[in-house]
Amino acid sequence: MSRSWLQILIAFLLLVSCTSVPKPGDQHAREISRDGPKKLLPLTSRQLELLENPERIIGLLDEGAITEEEIPNPHWRNQGCIACHPQRKVVKPVTLREADPNHLCLNCHEQELVEAFIHPTGMAPPDDFLQRMPDQFRSSLQDGNVACTTCHDLSIQCDEERFAERKINPFFFRGGPYLTRTRLCYNCHDPKMYERYNPHDQITDEGELRSKQCFYCHNTYPDRSQARSIDDVNFNLAEDLEKLCTGCHPWRPHPGGVWAGPKAGEGPDHLVLPPEKIKRRMERVARQQGIILPLEPKTGRIFCATCHNPHERGIQYRPEADKGADGFKRLRRGALEICQNCHNM
Ligand code: HEC
Ligand code: HEC
Ligand code: HEC
Ligand code: HEC
Ligand code: HEC
Ligand code: HEC
Ligand code: HEC
Ligand code: HEC
Repeated sequence: MSRSWLQILIAFLLLVSCTSVPKPGDQHAREISRDGPKKLLPLTSRQLELLENPERIIGLLDEGAITEEEIPNPHWRNQGCIACHPQRKVVKPVTLREADPNHLCLNCHEQELVEAFIHPTGMAPPDDFLQRMPDQFRSSLQDGNVACTTCHDLSIQCDEERFAERKINPFFFRGGPYLTRTRLCYNCHDPKMYERYNPHDQITDEGELRSKQCFYCHNTYPDRSQARSIDDVNFNLAEDLEKLCTGCHPWRPHPGGVWAGPKAGEGPDHLVLPPEKIKRRMERVARQQGIILPLEPKTGRIFCATCHNPHERGIQYRPEADKGADGFKRLRRGALEICQNCHNM
């Protein structure tokens, strides 16, 4: 699928999900990328020079003297302090290059882009917001208005001892990491106003099929009486099928992935091509347990629906494909046994 299609699709998914304002799909994909946040590349000598003169960056970009990729990333690294703090060695009390911290960001990030796609700034929260907001959000307002630094807590990426948090809180969200992005929103917004659209609700209370819901993930209406497997249905995406889910549910830190990781939020990367031995085990277990363990058709990888059933109970005519629908965490097999689908433990 072409990139622009993907962006339209993801913008659409986000729009109907009401969980956020629309924004470029590839950026979202970065946040939830299977590999965690993008690798921090070493800085070139040109970039080191730019870090010392951040106010020149936008001008050079406009002149075409540097490309967007050449803008140095100052976050989460010791060489970056100088882009925001005037001293080479930051000492307390700390000072900033600009009195208004928003101006720091705008040396490198275009306000229109950020505002159009993510969130406006510069407005004063109404009283009910102020009452809901935790202290650290309230005290981060600039002259009473929402600023970049209200949601992005820069002090997280300032502190060498916290650099490892980049893995679980790549956008340095204030009060983060958050299991779902909407939890950040609820620091200020009333959750009741943002009831989430639920694509798993596929049958009305009267028992009628909500066929429109199917098109959230499928690009043609699945023929339930004919379908014998995942190969008999189509999706809005050709690959990376986890993107059908990750607009609403985060993968990293995967909520069901904290079991085995050495640290909270970490866990094995399960969205991989299973080795032949595990694959054979999966086929055997699926037969024995009367369940399905579908893999992504194009790549053969494990994906969200290998473990979770996204359908409402009763949608699937094949009983094995119906297992797990509406059950605990939508797991195809009980939480205690599910690991044994693939591991001998
Ligand atoms: C992108 C801009 C930016 C970069 C890069 C940056 N800082 Fe900061 N730093 C800030 C801002 C803004 C604040 C004020 C945070 C606040 O008051 O909430 C801050 C606050 C601090 C503080 C006070 C923290 C606190 O909890 O009160 C220290 C110390 C500090 N920075 C050190 C550093 C060091 C050391 C580096 C490099 C490793 C660095 N900063 C990189 C923007 C930055
Ligand atoms: C010297 C330039 C520079 C300054 C100043 C700067 N940034 Fe960035 N920022 C970058 C670059 C480059 C990236 C990486 C973009 C990418 O990978 O596509 C980035 C990434 C980010 C990210 C995403 C994290 C990630 O890993 O991609 C956030 C959030 C962010 N910046 C917020 C801010 C805020 C808020 C400020 C102001 C306090 C600020 N930045 C100041 C250059 C800067
Ligand atoms: C109300 C909260 C909020 C405010 C205010 C806010 N952001 Fe963000 N920002 C977010 C969220 C949420 C994301 C993650 C979006 C996603 O899921 O991709 C984000 C992502 C980003 C990114 C990474 C995505 C990208 O475009 O490369 C940058 C950079 C960024 N913000 C900069 C800023 C700057 C600069 C400002 C101030 C002009 C700002 N933000 C104000 C919530 C906020
Ligand atoms: C720091 C507080 C704060 C956080 C966190 C926050 N918002 Fe907002 N948001 C506001 C304020 C204040 C307004 C303006 C509300 C008003 O004036 O009624 C607003 C307005 C909006 C609007 C309406 C925009 C418009 O131009 O009318 C949307 C949509 C929105 N926020 C979505 C979100 C989402 C999605 C998140 C989480 C990613 C989020 N907000 C997080 C404070 C916040
Ligand atoms: C949230 C995304 C999503 C929605 C919404 C959705 N599906 Fe699916 N569907 C999938 C995924 C992923 C698979 C492959 C895994 C599986 O079989 O459960 C699939 C597979 C199927 C299959 C093949 C099952 C088999 O193995 O026999 C049928 C039939 C099907 N869907 C019907 C529907 C119908 C009918 C609807 C609307 C009521 C619907 N789906 C809504 C994601 C979705
Ligand atoms: C438009 C947003 C949206 C999309 C896309 C989506 N879901 Fe959901 N999901 C929800 C909502 C809403 C719930 C209801 C429970 C809740 O609020 O967490 C839910 C519940 C779940 C649960 C149960 C969580 C629990 O705590 O019991 C699982 C597991 C799940 N979804 C998996 C998936 C998978 C797998 C996909 C992709 C095939 C997917 N979801 C796509 C919104 C979404
Ligand atoms: C290897 C199996 C496996 C895969 C693959 C997997 N999950 Fe899970 N997931 C689990 C298990 C197990 C749990 C339940 C953990 C527990 O006991 O709470 C879970 C829990 C969840 C929950 C419930 C979160 C909560 O608050 O309790 C959601 C939502 C979810 N997963 C979504 C996804 C999405 C989206 C993907 C794909 C990006 C995915 N899962 C891939 C095994 C998996
Ligand atoms: C759908 C199959 C599947 C399920 C279900 C599953 N895993 Fe995995 N798991 C894998 C695959 C494939 C790997 C990659 C390792 C490999 O290639 O051998 C892996 C890797 C791991 C690793 C890393 C170990 C290593 O050798 O790198 C751990 C730990 C792990 N899984 C734990 C679990 C736990 C705990 C559960 C149950 C909650 C679980 N897995 C459920 C397929 C699965």
